[in-house]
Amino acid sequence: MRSDVFGISLGRRAALALLAGSFLLPALPALAQSETTKRIGIIGAGNIGGTLGRLWIKAGYEVFFSSRHPEELKALVEELGPKARAGTPAEAIAFGNAVLIAVPYKAYPELGRENAAALKNKVVIDAGNAVKARDGAVADEVERDGIGAVSAKYLAGARVVRAFNAANYKIFQKNAGRPEPRMAVPIAGNDPKALETARTLVSDAGFDPVVVGELKAADTFAMGSPGFGHDLSAPELKQKLGVKP
Ligand SMILES: NC(=O)c1ccc[n+]([C@@H]2O[C@H](COP(=O)([O-])OP(=O)(O)OC[C@H]3O[C@@H](n4cnc5c(N)ncnc54)[C@H](OP(=O)(O)O)[C@@H]3O)[C@@H](O)[C@H]2O)c1
Repeated sequence: MRSDVFGISLGRRAALALLAGSFLLPALPALAQSETTKRIGIIGAGNIGGTLGRLWIKAGYEVFFSSRHPEELKALVEELGPKARAGTPAEAIAFGNAVLIAVPYKAYPELGRENAAALKNKVVIDAGNAVKARDGAVADEVERDGIGAVSAKYLAGARVVRAFNAANYKIFQKNAGRPEPRMAVPIAGNDPKALETARTLVSDAGFDPVVVGELKAADTFAMGSPGFGHDLSAPELKQKLGVKP
């Protein structure tokens, strides 16, 4: 028996296969989604990287933790199960649809240099703070030029969004997913799509994202600024930072 599907004469089996295929069509969006899966690479798996990675795993993300000593992350990955893995920073960048940077700020110049090609166009969630005693000269640069500009300089080509820098990791642990009003997390960046990704990541981690402005606005919630170190609701944080409600 032959059958005519869309004017093409086909054998019965082929026609059935095509028809069956049409029933599979609803699955296509799921397939497309799996290609943009919630995959994040994390560079620096200490207090802040470890905390946020756990929250994203809880939210269904696949998380690739990295550091200079990935073998030391074995226990963390085993504890967190199949959605967690660990390796080098280069592997984390390649893995993630977005990358969280959570290392001491003095590491930025080398990290940026060594991963320049891979970081190009990557959405980078930049949680680092510059501390003079720990980070030395680069902290002077931040003091002079602003943290957004310095991050953009060392992570050249990446679509940097400042986020998760403005509170201690214990505050994030304590407040993640708390009942309304959620804790607000200020974010700043120049690339609208990267900001959108950051908003999703903040929200999925259990917080309320507050877009403060472009990268230069990150100074308003940098370490030592009035916008640093709060666990306010979004309306309260907006008021504090002078962001339109
Ligand atoms: N602690 C907080 O509450 C908090 C809150 C907001 C923002 N921050 C900022 O987030 C950053 C990380 O702070 P933290 O407290 O999470 O530090 P941490 O606990 O000391 O962890 C730092 C992590 O970065 C890794 N690392 C260090 N240098 C690296 C390099 N060159 N390349 C790759 N990995 C490197 C470390 O592992 P290896 O040494 O094995 O490489 C470790 O996994 C800092 O800039 C900090 O100011 C911290």
